[in-house]
Order: sequence, then structure tokens, then C-alpha cells
Amino acid sequence: MKQQNPKPLTEPHAKVSLKPFPILSPVPVVLVSCGGTRPGEKANLITIAWAGTVCSEPPMLSISVRPERHSYELIHASGEFVVNVPSVHQARVTDWCGVVSGRDEDKFSKTGLTPGKSLVVRPPIVQECPLNIECKVRKTVPLGSHVMFVAEIVAVQASKGLMMHSSRLALEQAGLIAYAHGHYYSLGHQIDHFGFSVRKAAKPRPGRVQIPPRKGRRY
Ligand SMILES: Cc1cc2nc3c(=O)[nH]c(=O)nc-3n(C[C@H](O)[C@H](O)[C@H](O)COP(=O)(O)O)c2cc1C
Repeated sequence: MKQQNPKPLTEPHAKVSLKPFPILSPVPVVLVSCGGTRPGEKANLITIAWAGTVCSEPPMLSISVRPERHSYELIHASGEFVVNVPSVHQARVTDWCGVVSGRDEDKFSKTGLTPGKSLVVRPPIVQECPLNIECKVRKTVPLGSHVMFVAEIVAVQASKGLMMHSSRLALEQAGLIAYAHGHYYSLGHQIDHFGFSVRKAAKPRPGRVQIPPRKGRRY
């Protein structure tokens, strides 16, 4: 039976204990293109939710792939892949690429997605996705069910329509998708931007701790 929240979640509330499981939410859901690097080999697409940024300098990300996936062998052999960040318009094909194998289907031709030219790596980008992140594997870390590929970001392509002045990328207009506990969501309203909590020098109030403003955006 579905429990209703007895209290608004802005207040301290009762908890239940759950077994440990990979529930960090939301996470990105991405279309990873790989393969097509050896004679006669077709490029493939795999849907990945276990992906994340892991380093700023050098720019790095990781994806975790089960060794039994067709894509695992392709990435392992070439040491290269592209993380294509889908928009809501690619939600259906993103799900589909996560339930069929490249051993059985040519996912590019079946989905109608366009393989585009990568700048540095050999697997193609997905031309329809707003953001394409080209990666070279630097470390392969067996973890258990999944093997984590830790990779350096060697090139990035973004849809021209998202480029504002100078280097500002209007990702809020890209219709990005989040994934939480088996469900896909489009992103909602923007709350504010990095550092907004310290933007204005608030008047000191008795009993309130003043947090000093931070400079720059360094994670
Ligand atoms: C939303 C979603 C997220 C997924 N995330 C992962 C993941 O992080 N790692 C993984 O190995 N498989 C993941 N999968 C499963 C693979 O995408 C799926 O097994 C796919 O068919 C493998 O394709 P391949 O055999 O062509 O490589 C996910 C599937 C879906 C639908």
C-alpha cells in the first residue's frame, strides 16, 4: 500500500531502514556509443545510468558496465567511447538501447539515430543528442557486478543552438533527462545558480552564522 507522507518533507520526519542498494538519485542516463573501430565491426549504443563526473583537472568521468554486455568488449578493446547526453526527445530510443543488445540489433540503423563525426576518438557521436563527450579510457576498475571505466574527456561537442555568448552553454534549454529508481524524468524548474546561497551579503542577524562567500567554481 502506498504510504502518504504524514508531514511536509521540509521538517524532520520518520525514516525506514532499507537494505544497501544502489539508490543514489537522481543520476544521469546517457547513450554511450562505442565500437566501429575494427574492420567489419558495427558501432553500438548502450544505455548507462551508472555514470558520473569524477575529476575536474584533467576532466574525467566514469561509466560502469557489466562484462556480459556487448558494449563492454567494444570499449575494452578500443579504449574509447562517447557519452551522448540525450534530451527528452531521445527518451524512447534511450530506453530501447538499454533493453536490446548490439549482438542482435544494429542500434544505429534501428533507431534512426545519426552517427556523426567525433573530433578525437573513433566511435561516432549521436548527432541528435545535445551534448557529446568523447572519452579515452585511463583506468579499468573491476568492482563486482560492474567494471568501471575511468576515462579522460578528450573532446566535447554541443549543439550550436545551445551556445550563448562566449562559453555559456544553455543546458537548461536542452531538455535533459534524470533517472531515479527506474523512472525517467525531465528536469523541472531552475532553483538558482552555483553560489546563490552566498550571493548577497545578508545583513547579519543575531544568532545566525555568516558563511563567507567562495570565489570561483572549483569542485
Ligand atoms: C535506464 C537504463 C540504465 C542502464 N544502466 C546500465 C549501466 O549503468 N551499466 C550497464 O552495464 N548496463 C546498464 N543498462 C543495461 C544495458 O543498457 C543493456 O543491457 C543493453 O541492452 C546492453 O547493450 P549491449 O549488449 O548492446 O551492450 C541500463 C539499461 C537501462 C534501460
